[in-house]
Amino acid sequence: MQIDDELAEVAKFWSTRYRNEGFIWGQEPSPCAIEAAQHFRRGAAQRLLVLGCGYGRDAAHFAQQGFEVTAVDFSAAALELARSWTSSEHGIPPINYLLDNIAELDQPNSSFDAVFSHRTLHLLLSKARLTKAFAHMQRVLKPGGLACVSLRNPRDPTRKHAVTGSGESSDMSFRPGHQILFLADTELINVVTPYFSVLSHTEMQERESYARDYATQLHFLTLSKSA
Ligand SMILES: C[S@@+](CC[C@H](N)C(=O)[O-])C[C@H]1O[C@@H](n2cnc3c(N)ncnc32)[C@H](O)[C@@H]1O
Repeated sequence: MQIDDELAEVAKFWSTRYRNEGFIWGQEPSPCAIEAAQHFRRGAAQRLLVLGCGYGRDAAHFAQQGFEVTAVDFSAAALELARSWTSSEHGIPPINYLLDNIAELDQPNSSFDAVFSHRTLHLLLSKARLTKAFAHMQRVLKPGGLACVSLRNPRDPTRKHAVTGSGESSDMSFRPGHQILFLADTELINVVTPYFSVLSHTEMQERESYARDYATQLHFLTLSKSA
């Protein structure tokens, strides 16, 4: 896995969280994964790549829905937790978990029918890395491939805690080590459209975590690979 120093710090932050907090969002699938599974099934997708899978709550849902799932995360602790519960002894079909950085994705060209990423892309912390991530998503998808992604939007309540944040986009320090890149609708679409056609752009909500009882506000995009 290739990783720069700033993202290596982010990976450390997440490994510490998983070691201390375990199943931070519970073991049920996210609302975005439930919707994405329906979308991917309508598109007859089989091979699915999950980016920033954490401990695998959504990867497990996709595997149970019959998709052939590869799931990556750059936190070794996330993958340890994922492998410990999403195994066949818990009735979950096999999932191929891999350590990888989604800004430098090390997966072969044209090898997946669909890509899913939930609450992760804002953690890339720069438009440059986000652009690279979308370029990789396009590269690893087969022609006509689909993607569903969610990432925090500027209506998210945590943005009120931003240390910086006067312009269209800002990153913020919510807790030490936890930076978030917020992109306005048009900024996000400008990053995405060189690589994907936007099928829909809506807003989704999800409780922040068991420990924090407020709703995160998310961009939710359904995309198809541009030729
Ligand atoms: C907020 S958590 C969400 C986890 C999972 N998608 C879920 O909803 O249960 C973000 C996850 O993305 C991972 N992540 C963040 N940036 C990443 C990157 N550049 N490459 C790979 N994984 C990344 C973190 O380690 C963490 O597991």
